[in-house]
Amino acid sequence: MTSDRLTSAPLTLGSPQSLYERIGAEGLHALLEHFYARVARDPLLAPLFPGSRDSSLWATTLEKQEAFLTGFLGGPPLYHQRYGHPRLRARHLPFPITPAHAGAWLACMRAALNETPQIDAASADELHQALSRVAVHMVNQPG
Ligand code: HEM
Repeated sequence: MTSDRLTSAPLTLGSPQSLYERIGAEGLHALLEHFYARVARDPLLAPLFPGSRDSSLWATTLEKQEAFLTGFLGGPPLYHQRYGHPRLRARHLPFPITPAHAGAWLACMRAALNETPQIDAASADELHQALSRVAVHMVNQPG
């Protein structure tokens, strides 16, 4: 074994890459561009978002989600640094979210993942599963 392998092997074994490292900042940004373009066209979801009343606000929504997901996936805690504790369920309470909204949100995410070649299929599945678990907790209306 060369000294290169001796020094690099423990690092590779000991620190599996986070989802954030696998997806990358550019992959995450591309994903969210695709995602909010779909949300903005979705008849059920769009009316909930401030961007449907002032289209310049889609950029703010995207920026907050990008900051949140960066930390959620194992990258720097940008949302915490910029906005404090996410309190995601509380921050979603002003919006009536039914199981149908959660389903539509996840369908937009699935389609956006499929449109983002920078994200490999295994990472896409892992991300979608993680988001599915969170989306259930955002439901605050029976529907
Ligand atoms: C279940 C369906 C969901 C719906 C219908 C929904 C809807 C919304 C709406 C309408 C906003 C306000 C946007 C704004 O003020 O610019 C928002 C904000 C946000 N959402 Fe969701 N959301 C859902 C699920 C999720 C999930 C699963 C996550 C995280 C994984 C998430 C993360 C966020 C974040 C970080 C914000 C910004 C909070 C803030 O600082 O105001 N949302 N969402």
